[in-house]
Amino acid sequence: MANEAKHNTGRQVLGWGILATFVAGFFYGPVGVWTGPVLGAWFIGTQRVRRGFVWVMVLTFVPMAIGNWRMVFRTGPVAGLEALVWMLAASAVAVAPLVVYRMVSAHLRGLVSTLPLPTAGVLVQVAALEWLPAKVTGLAFREAGWWNGALREIGREFGTAAVTFAVLWAAAIAVWMWNREAQAWKVAATAAIFAAALWSAAWVGRLEPAGAEARMAGVLICVCGVVVLSVWALADRMRERRSWARLTGNSAETVALLRSPGSLSPLHVEGRPGGEALVSAAGEKFPIRDGVPDFRTTEDLSGANGKYNHLYETIGGFYDDTQRVACALAGMDRDAYVMSYLGKLEVRPGDKVLETSVGTGLNFKYLPRDIRRYGLDLAWDMLANCKANLRR
Ligand SMILES: C[S@@+](CC[C@H](N)C(=O)[O-])C[C@H]1O[C@@H](n2cnc3c(N)ncnc32)[C@H](O)[C@@H]1O
Repeated sequence: MANEAKHNTGRQVLGWGILATFVAGFFYGPVGVWTGPVLGAWFIGTQRVRRGFVWVMVLTFVPMAIGNWRMVFRTGPVAGLEALVWMLAASAVAVAPLVVYRMVSAHLRGLVSTLPLPTAGVLVQVAALEWLPAKVTGLAFREAGWWNGALREIGREFGTAAVTFAVLWAAAIAVWMWNREAQAWKVAATAAIFAAALWSAAWVGRLEPAGAEARMAGVLICVCGVVVLSVWALADRMRERRSWARLTGNSAETVALLRSPGSLSPLHVEGRPGGEALVSAAGEKFPIRDGVPDFRTTEDLSGANGKYNHLYETIGGFYDDTQRVACALAGMDRDAYVMSYLGKLEVRPGDKVLETSVGTGLNFKYLPRDIRRYGLDLAWDMLANCKANLRR
């Protein structure tokens, strides 16, 4: 296992540099205006919708309440309570685009999957500025003082909606690249193109400031964009729910490999209200949830299995990320390390490979492309992320 100890100093330095930038973002507004949305978009993408919403609300509300404690304590109890309600509303406004992004982008492909965040951001901002009191919007949106360089020019010439679009789109692209494990040079090239586009837009804006009509057209495009993307995502979700064949590629071949864990009898797919199920000749039924057959019983989820199920359901969303970050910070070449043992399996193109406790399917990417992959796991969230990884 000579590869095991291979050290990647470049990646380690980069890892610590990025970590330091994100930490700096908590204390220095002009950095935080970029890093905050990246963290928010990454985090909500690792969670189930409801849990993600609650956590991001808490993580937005608590710092807001701490930063504005004077509003709560300086005035009387009624005014203080009122201020807390504004803050809650402001948090909801700030979090709403992230929730739309979480629900929609998983159903879209490629760069299009990055668009729900900036378009929803513009929509929510415009609606909030129109209909909510300034007390709420003042808390919800970043201070213009935090914008620097091209961003300030863009705000001046094209309006705050353009700034929101640029910042949120950059965040969604960063998370998209992170999730696809883009190489460092691709990330650097994208950042350079993005910065160049931002400066050119600011420069063009100075030559010919956008009129009210052009600004309105931009907002309308965002509104239409978010509606079209949401409808597309909804249709995709319905198709995914309905069709097990769509996820397995060849459902007949996959079903033929499966047996009931109880009676060991063969299974077949039956459509039923609320979704499909795998059914055995003995009448056992195993629901197919979001394309994954669920063979677990209540007893399976007790004792040690119950404990580990809970653990991996909780960390499933960021299991891959913690591994990647830990390896990068330690300067460890994870690819070389994993290959030092997976390479010994001698998997060949055309093979069928089953990984028990497949987790998020991290090992699959180290195997030849031309194989059929099968995985089983106890934890639902690990499998949900495995599905997302395989799609990528
Ligand atoms: C440390 S993770 C490893 C994941 C993957 N094999 C990898 O190398 O990245 C362990 C996985 O085992 C799963 N697991 C734990 N107990 C299990 C059981 N009784 N049956 C199936 N999977 C189980 C967990 O849900 C978790 O996904």
